[in-house]
Amino acid sequence: MRNSRDETLPGWTYDDAEFHALEREHLLLGSWVLAGHRSDLKAPGDFLSLEHCGERGLVILGEDGKLRGFFNTCRHRAHALVSTESGSCRHAIRCPYHGWSYAFDGRLKAIAAEKSFPAIDKAEFGLKAIEVEEFLGFVFARFKPPLDRRCGTSVAERFAPYRTEMEAYRTTEMVSRGTGWHCEIAVDWKNLIDNYLEGYHVPTGHPGLQRMFGNSYTAEAQPTDVSRQVGIIRDKPSENWSERMYQRVAPTPQHLPEARRRAWCYYTLLPNLALDFYPEQVTSFEALPLGPGKVRLRARRWMLPAADRRTRAAQYLSYRINSQVQREDEMLVASVQQGLKSRGYSFGIFSEKEVALRQMHEMIRRAIPVARLAERPAQGTLAAVNAQMNHDLAA
Ligand code: FES
Ligand SMILES: [Fe+2]
Repeated sequence: MRNSRDETLPGWTYDDAEFHALEREHLLLGSWVLAGHRSDLKAPGDFLSLEHCGERGLVILGEDGKLRGFFNTCRHRAHALVSTESGSCRHAIRCPYHGWSYAFDGRLKAIAAEKSFPAIDKAEFGLKAIEVEEFLGFVFARFKPPLDRRCGTSVAERFAPYRTEMEAYRTTEMVSRGTGWHCEIAVDWKNLIDNYLEGYHVPTGHPGLQRMFGNSYTAEAQPTDVSRQVGIIRDKPSENWSERMYQRVAPTPQHLPEARRRAWCYYTLLPNLALDFYPEQVTSFEALPLGPGKVRLRARRWMLPAADRRTRAAQYLSYRINSQVQREDEMLVASVQQGLKSRGYSFGIFSEKEVALRQMHEMIRRAIPVARLAERPAQGTLAAVNAQMNHDLAA
């Protein structure tokens, strides 16, 4: 039975090793990962590292002021070259295992005890490159080109519909605020991002957000597979202390257009990354798959330097409010994860309020056509059925 455009992805796709292997190859490794912020790369040798679907990468600032990305894997015997989320290499990228060292542009510079090796051409053993893009101060990287080029491939092309309004926040001038946090959650990455992508659950699932936003919450999706959700902070004081205080102290930055001074705007870069713009800061929401049915949620924060007391108070209060939202979401997605496997469920249907969620599911069906099948094909056949469906669709 075919799963139609009005129906959500079938439950079987949310915890399935064979399906996850297809997702990894056909979608996830070709998607952008947020390495960090340009302000953390000041001097040559400064780096940011990233991990995505089992691959390790690093982005490093060269002597020539250029950013370059590489697999964070030594060409000698595959040890990681750097092991922290950010840092600085002094004269070279030196592998901690046997001491091979690489220039900041990836060239193999020196081999420890070189005479013990057969004569090798060092030019053949440079670090393998990955793609890097800087967009509005944020540094993105990806491990392979995407298979789906329908909507442009760069972050700038993808976010083009929102570039002007995102630029107003002056994110290029921002600096990191702390190292962020992450946690592992026993749900599929799609379940976590599904929940993020729709505000339909706000009135019942998040009473606090509902008190803050009233009925102002809107969602829209763009053909470049990005979406935006916006909630406007109400003037009517909330009965909850954190929310009421936030309403009182939240800054109204004059550099933002009036409609954004009291708004929480969530911008999603499908499939698994979002940047949340607040009057007082920008935060990330990164759903990093750890395998079928398991995800690492990573969140980081950036702000304009020299934030005043009011802005800092607002940062603390929005953190408190969002921690509660996060606890609520974790309970919602845990219950959904269990239900997705139930004989009592096959697939759901979309509301008009779930336009961004629909976009996400269409992206997955395009990348992995076997996701159109309401019933799972027999064990061991998924890759073959998917290849046949790809072939039939192309014919
Ligand atoms: S694995 Fe890097 S030097 Fe041996
Ligand atoms: Fe939620």
